[in-house]
Amino acid sequence: MPDITTLILDDHAWFRRRFAELDELQARPDADPRELSRVWRPLADRLDVHAIAEEKIFYPQLLKQGENPQDETLDAIGDHNEIRDGVAEAERNPVGSQGWWDGVWSARRANDEHMAEEENEGLADFRQHAPSGLRESLGRQFQEFMDTHPTPEGLDNTDKDPEVYVRTIEARIDPASASTTGLGIGDLKGHDQ
Ligand SMILES: [Fe+2]
Ligand SMILES: [Fe+2]
Repeated sequence: MPDITTLILDDHAWFRRRFAELDELQARPDADPRELSRVWRPLADRLDVHAIAEEKIFYPQLLKQGENPQDETLDAIGDHNEIRDGVAEAERNPVGSQGWWDGVWSARRANDEHMAEEENEGLADFRQHAPSGLRESLGRQFQEFMDTHPTPEGLDNTDKDPEVYVRTIEARIDPASASTTGLGIGDLKGHDQ
């Protein structure tokens, strides 16, 4: 089983190829919205599920094992929100319309910037500091999650407050820290999914 950082890289490569396919279609004035949807539907779904999978499986472990995990995680959750917002903007507009392309490009720009940072920061940190056995067992969990969720349906696909996310995970890692950060039980429950 490949380790989780490899699976995340594979998804990133897949995203880049799908956006490249959209370039071909954008250049064709006769492109049928059905052709655009054939590329966009699985891309939009996987962008969302990939971010959720990282938030459930990767970032909690990075916060435990990484060297500089707080800043990396705060950045990543903020970026995931921007990607989600771009996807949601596209989804509010008819496929192929200007509003749809605006949303697609907004998701693409946010995602491109994010992937580069994630690859050079969180993923590199985790490879250097987390044991290979853990990376492989998380790889298995990540793969299972992606396989059982082809779409974000039924998952929490909302934007997350980066600070609350980090504090909630840190309180789980070290419950004593909850009392020093002023984190209440309500915050924990709200993000326990
Ligand atoms: Fe990613
Ligand atoms: Fe990410």
